[in-house]
Amino acid sequence: MKVDVLIIGAGAAGLMCAIAAGQRGRRVLVVDHANKIGKKILMSGGGRCNFTNTGATPANYLSANPHFAKSALARYTPWDFIALVEKHRIAYHEKELGQLFCDDSSKQIVRMLLDECAASGATVEANCGVQRVRKTPEGFAVHTARGEVHAESLVVASGGLSIPSMGASGFGYELARQFGHALLPTRAGLVPLTLSGKHQEHYQDLAGVALPAVEARVGKQGFRAGLLFTHRGISGPAILQISSYWQPGDDLRIDLLPDRDAGAHLVEQRTARPLAELKTVLGDALPKRLAQRLCEQWFDNRPMRQYRDAELNQIGVQLNAWPITASGTEGYRTAEVTLGGVDTDGLSSSTMQSKRVPGLYFIGEVVDVTGWLGGYNFQWAWASGQAAGQAV
Ligand code: FDA
Repeated sequence: MKVDVLIIGAGAAGLMCAIAAGQRGRRVLVVDHANKIGKKILMSGGGRCNFTNTGATPANYLSANPHFAKSALARYTPWDFIALVEKHRIAYHEKELGQLFCDDSSKQIVRMLLDECAASGATVEANCGVQRVRKTPEGFAVHTARGEVHAESLVVASGGLSIPSMGASGFGYELARQFGHALLPTRAGLVPLTLSGKHQEHYQDLAGVALPAVEARVGKQGFRAGLLFTHRGISGPAILQISSYWQPGDDLRIDLLPDRDAGAHLVEQRTARPLAELKTVLGDALPKRLAQRLCEQWFDNRPMRQYRDAELNQIGVQLNAWPITASGTEGYRTAEVTLGGVDTDGLSSSTMQSKRVPGLYFIGEVVDVTGWLGGYNFQWAWASGQAAGQAV
């Protein structure tokens, strides 16, 4: 079989690339080894797909080259994708912070992408894995489950390593290596952090306790959002966000009272409630079980009037920068994304084409561009897919 463009991976990036290339009149085939198209889109956003973020800028992405994503993101913006969603009459809403979700179901986004593929003449095949790829003088010969396919352009859109049960594979990285591309070390991102030893013992019976707003910080990076204690460690949006910036050994600090100078607050409370115990005062600002644990484990619990200013300020400093020693992450099993991947130095930022092998393209999560939580990763998939789709 002969096509102009063969795309490996019918996820967000691959389908968007197929639509753009098909609209340009290219003969396009998209193959995916999974038994169903768009599994990650279907499970995303709790089944409602957080399909973009209206505030997406290059600053919301991690990459060894922070400039790489700029061109593609500028040429295909959240508003371009919103226009597509509106064209298909899919109802959506903003949850918070520019995060757009379907009102009904992420199935609508998959349906929309498949309808657009069909309209542009692109063929999409599930249950079709790829075994081998060979360079030929005309392009590429690709050994698939349905036989050999010859293509002028080959687009690798096979995603990252997160959620192997959903079809994730290291295939894209292997292919990159085969064609001489450098890879940056991969690791799980947007993932809960685990605690171990005494650190886990201190917190494990708090599993289920949630704080609606903390600020999680690693170095200069901070995220203000919710935190949840789990049986194995800590999760919640603030932790998922900071997990992409955290590596074992890094100092992780949690501001448990991010809108307040906790020391000054405690000094005020001592005047207002001199007989109240510290754990009662803390229990008004924090979940009671957490306040109690802090007092049992770290602070000496006494009536407020027995504390000196310096002691309360010292407790305040700790509350505003609580040190938590994480031992690791839950890994790819639960991670939303994979950090690292195909080094952008080897790719054109305007087309995603390999600088080494003409006709070879890498798009989406397989590339070393990873977004924050909140619709940014799909926006990168759409934008990089569109950039390649215009060039293949
Ligand atoms: P994607 O993983 O979507 O697609 C790759 C495809 O390639 C898969 O279909 C796979 O089966 C196929 N494939 C792999 N190896 C192959 C091979 N050898 N042969 C053939 N096919 C192969 N992001 C966001 O912006 N908003 C959100 O709400 C969410 N929610 C979310 C929830 C959960 C649980 C996860 C795990 C992830 C998210 N994400 C997200 C992240 C988002 O899903 C992710 O960044 C994009 O799907 C990446 O798109 P890609 O097309 O690059 O890969």
